[in-house]
Amino acid sequence: MEQLVKELNERLKGLSAPQILTYFIHDYNGKVALGSSLGAEDQVLTDMIARIDRSTKIFTLDTGRVFPETYRTLHETSKKYSINIDVYFPNSEKVERMVNERGINLFYDSVGDRKMCCHIRKIEPLKRAMMDVDVWVTGIRKEQSITRILTEIVEYDHVNGKIKINPLLNWTEKDIWNYIKENDVPYNKLHDLGFPSIGCEPCTRAVKEGEDVRAGRWWWEAPEQKECGLHRRENGQLEQEARQ
Ligand code: ADX
Ligand code: SF4
Repeated sequence: MEQLVKELNERLKGLSAPQILTYFIHDYNGKVALGSSLGAEDQVLTDMIARIDRSTKIFTLDTGRVFPETYRTLHETSKKYSINIDVYFPNSEKVERMVNERGINLFYDSVGDRKMCCHIRKIEPLKRAMMDVDVWVTGIRKEQSITRILTEIVEYDHVNGKIKINPLLNWTEKDIWNYIKENDVPYNKLHDLGFPSIGCEPCTRAVKEGEDVRAGRWWWEAPEQKECGLHRRENGQLEQEARQ
């Protein structure tokens, strides 16, 4: 698999994001899926995918704690492109047990509690969403965080056993917004209110001018902790390397 990933990165070097998507959608027919948080990057990818093949799977993990604006974006996007965005929910019994034992806002109590909440509300549903998927498309960009600077366009996700592709890896925030404006892509209106990165409502806040784009995510935690586990690397290797 490592060899395949290496070859794919070589082969796709210099290609544009739509070209990378086209390659995988054709070569891994019916086995490609975009995981969308309905954030700006994922909206760009949704627009590109809708132009290539509207039957490509797009899914979102509804944690039950997202912003009302995110649901509006979901609705608007499905309508505009005439696509189904598959929604995955967490296991209700596990959520009930967790909030009854640990409290409704347990995530503020400790990193462990926060990770438990992310695990039940995101990681488990992600596994179901990707059951029949070989290639997972994400909107990760290098610029977003110190935990992401060593990411590559094509990777092997050892945790989920999938090829993971990040076609917008080298895009800047400006590139994203130019694309959205030029192509009239629907977007989450919270982006206009100082939210560059949008996750769950209790764990996301607006950032101030000049602050890091992910400064508003789990803002009470240290930067190297700020991953919900969706994009975990083997042995936390990425964070270690990034700090050196
Ligand atoms: S997170 O790990 O901190 O939550 P972030 O919000 O930066 O991730 O998003 C990075 C990528 O993870 C997105 O572009 C998307 O591909 C995927 N992702 C994040 N949240 C979700 C979600 N709720 N549903 C599906 N995919 C998601
Ligand atoms: Fe829970 Fe916050 Fe993680 Fe959402 S981001 S799943 S509310 S801890």
